[in-house]
Amino acid sequence: MTTQDELKQQAAAQAAEMVQPGSILGVGTGSTVAFFIDALAARNQKTPLNLAAIVTTSSRSQRQLEDNGFHVSELAEIDQADLTIDGADRVDPQLDGIKGGGGALTLEKNVAINSKHNVWIVDESKVVDRLGGFPLPVEVLPVSCEQLLKKFTRDGLAPQFRLNEDGSRYVTHYGNYILDLTVSPLPIPAGLASYLDGTVGVVEHGLFLNMTDEVLIAKKDGTIAHWV
Ligand code: 5RP
Repeated sequence: MTTQDELKQQAAAQAAEMVQPGSILGVGTGSTVAFFIDALAARNQKTPLNLAAIVTTSSRSQRQLEDNGFHVSELAEIDQADLTIDGADRVDPQLDGIKGGGGALTLEKNVAINSKHNVWIVDESKVVDRLGGFPLPVEVLPVSCEQLLKKFTRDGLAPQFRLNEDGSRYVTHYGNYILDLTVSPLPIPAGLASYLDGTVGVVEHGLFLNMTDEVLIAKKDGTIAHWV
């Protein structure tokens, strides 16, 4: 039987073939992306891709890329990535998704929006008819996090601080907290996104609507569905 990791690996291997030599590449975060970096490194070893630049969305991915001999640039050092490969926590048939399970949503959204082409790689467990079934991460400033916790609770969004294993609050790359909204399915994602976009103290949220161009879905039957 194919394991979930094997499915992630299959989608990642296919995505590694999409990278054009000499291009500027964006690389996301997560276990599926970790397989992508392995596949990219293997391809680069066989025939050097001479990438013009690589940007990434977490220190984890940065370390893995650097361990494989890639130089990683800051987003501010490039204009736009030609292609960004990232994972997702949930994706629906409209190609809208929930991201940020790994806590990297702010950088992921900034890299995605500054990329000419975005591709998500997922195994089929991530595919849903309606966005939900996964807590929606909202990165919030510590200064007003308690007020936001109360506001989201009042508004029926069932927020919970993301915690580390030792019970302390998870802190993002930018020194903020994450409130995971545990409503499922999400009521009208576009409405929720604009409510969150308009809430002072919210740095970013994990609703990625209209942001990806393609999704590669590795399925248990051995095929890879290609949504565009
Ligand atoms: C990190 C993300 C990841 O892309 C998402 O959590 C998917 O991760 P994985 O491939 O490990 O399932 O959004 O913030």
